[in-house]
Amino acid sequence: MSGAGSRRVSALAVCAVLQGRSYARALDDAGHARLSRERQALASELAQGALRWQHRHSEILRHLMDRPRPASQLNALLSVGLFQLSRTRIPAHAAVHACVAVAKELLSPAVARLVNAVLRRYLRERSRLEAAADRRLESRFSHPGWMIQRFQAGWPGHWESILRAGNRKPPLWLRVNRARLDPHAYRLRLLNAAAWSCGRPQGLPDGLRIDPPMPVSRLPGFSEGVVSVQDAGAQLAVPLLGARPGMRVLDACAAPGGKTAQLLETCPGMMELVALDSDAGRLDRLKENLDRLGLGANVCLGDALRPREWWDGQPFDRILVDAPCSATGVIRRHPDIKHLRRSADIPRFARLQSRLLISLWPLLKPGGRLLYSVCSVLPDETVGVIEGFLRENVALAREVRRSDRSSEAWTLPLSSHGYQVLPGSRCADGHFNALLEKTAGTKA
Ligand SMILES: C[S@@+](CC[C@H](N)C(=O)[O-])C[C@H]1O[C@@H](n2cnc3c(N)ncnc32)[C@H](O)[C@@H]1O
Repeated sequence: MSGAGSRRVSALAVCAVLQGRSYARALDDAGHARLSRERQALASELAQGALRWQHRHSEILRHLMDRPRPASQLNALLSVGLFQLSRTRIPAHAAVHACVAVAKELLSPAVARLVNAVLRRYLRERSRLEAAADRRLESRFSHPGWMIQRFQAGWPGHWESILRAGNRKPPLWLRVNRARLDPHAYRLRLLNAAAWSCGRPQGLPDGLRIDPPMPVSRLPGFSEGVVSVQDAGAQLAVPLLGARPGMRVLDACAAPGGKTAQLLETCPGMMELVALDSDAGRLDRLKENLDRLGLGANVCLGDALRPREWWDGQPFDRILVDAPCSATGVIRRHPDIKHLRRSADIPRFARLQSRLLISLWPLLKPGGRLLYSVCSVLPDETVGVIEGFLRENVALAREVRRSDRSSEAWTLPLSSHGYQVLPGSRCADGHFNALLEKTAGTKA
């Protein structure tokens, strides 16, 4: 494919996401796999950028066209064009030329002329158009209005920084498998291998940050299981759980296994780790990840809402519930979330999260601990879920606040419940954790 190939694939993928398809599926259907490695990287970069800035681009296009049609191939292509002109170092003439070529191939010569005219007018009137986009919150911060309102309501002092963090390109975070290599030794290996510099943050013993990111395939030792990709926000959950050798542990929403692997690496002497998930495809990815790392767990396909179908009746010392959620803490990595989530999804997630806690609580030993973890920043899914659970189980459960140095360095201690990492704080994704203990003396 030509230089226009990346633009074509990115425009088709953006269009499909705006019509409701998942990002991975959209890229596949657009022919991403048929591009060369280099062009694949460019296509992903352009698609992510266009999705990230889509709400802003829509407003700009409203000033440039009579009847912009949201979720059309034309608008998606124009968004890919605007992203290149406004936020990349790609020379303007090359960006416009490639988009015009795609319009000719995908749509018609008349549409190609329109693409040329719109992108060139943007270049001429850029400051006026960008200033106009700054006047509305939705286009200034390039997020859907309902999400902005929820961030404002939940985080009156932080909503702007949450939105800004959601638009930033994330760094690459690694977790070094300490059973294989000391993180400091790995850092030196990286520096020696290719002079990549990476930060070793305080309070995150196995974490390394590489900024700007590099393809995982070029990481020394990746295929041999020396490192895994895991954001700093996600790395903070497992240490809070406090699993110890000899314990029986359940990872109830385990796939694709980031935290399962972290548990096995950091606590090698557990009696048993059951890694449960209800999605067979995602469990296959978990198995691949554990194989690569040379780790083993009791992998189990099952519904955490129906323990009777898979539980052997032996209680657990520790349970990790890394629940499905809105993923509003990881928007910078998955800008498609801005387009695929709806406000009505939030109460649905909150109900599912509460049901997961209620179903799994009886599986915990008296004195045992359950860690509730979500990559959300919305109080309905974070403190709201914990508050509701504690209210209903006042005699059976209490919240444990650990004064743990590493989590203190990273998280905002909440006055009500849990620990919240806000997106962008110390370059991490947003993540919420709360640790509950079953009051000793209550029945398992
Ligand atoms: C946030 S992801 C977990 C990420 C994982 N813990 C990690 O660190 O890589 C949530 C997972 O919950 C799973 N899930 C959703 N509903 C479930 C249920 N009722 N029972 C078991 N797993 C469920 C999903 O398939 C998904 O893999």
